[in-house]
Amino acid sequence: MYDPLVRSLSFFIGGERGLRMMRTSVIDAMGVTPGMRVLDVCCGTGVLCAMVAEMVGADGKVVGVDLSEKMLKKAEKRKKDNVRFFLSNAEEIPYDDEYFDCASITFGLHEMPHQVRMNVLCEMRRVVKPGGKIAVLDYAHPKNKLIRCLFNIWMFVEGETAKDFVKRDLSSMVRYAGFNSIEKSVCAYNTVQIVSGVR
Ligand SMILES: C[S@@+](CC[C@H](N)C(=O)[O-])C[C@H]1O[C@@H](n2cnc3c(N)ncnc32)[C@H](O)[C@@H]1O
Repeated sequence: MYDPLVRSLSFFIGGERGLRMMRTSVIDAMGVTPGMRVLDVCCGTGVLCAMVAEMVGADGKVVGVDLSEKMLKKAEKRKKDNVRFFLSNAEEIPYDDEYFDCASITFGLHEMPHQVRMNVLCEMRRVVKPGGKIAVLDYAHPKNKLIRCLFNIWMFVEGETAKDFVKRDLSSMVRYAGFNSIEKSVCAYNTVQIVSGVR
């Protein structure tokens, strides 16, 4: 149900192609290269993990972490040999300090209360190597009046944590969690942002 729902909603952001371009931007923002160990937090049905798995190749490793058994069951179906999924709270990632070269979280933070968001970003910092990058993709608050109107209707569907998320500054959250060299880009009529930072 999740993937078809995302596909229909993505009509507004360029459909499947638009979604794929956003995911590619996340991979670029992390600086993924062959052989890397990459973490995807709140991996959902594992679409990004599958894309990253192709980039890191057989010498690399991709780990997806999610709280939902249902999502992970779907993810397992598209799993490649160099991918592992874990049923886990993203506040407690089951890996040692500095294990990963880089990490991502896409459309995950808006689903959490603010304190949990910060815990998750700090946990991502713990497991990423010094000099490694994280990339966060999530909603942004659009400036255009008409788009903002439609977006606000969508926020009612999303619920309280998403409404709270879009009022806050994601770049500051990432900086506060201990990352530097923060960069931000926006897409989909300014309704989506990608923020990256260096550990
Ligand atoms: C909107 S989905 C996004 C899935 C995927 N990243 C994507 O872009 O399609 C949000 C995901 O975050 C997961 N999630 C929410 N809170 C979490 C937490 N504390 N720890 C791990 N996963 C969590 C949910 O189970 C869900 O799969």
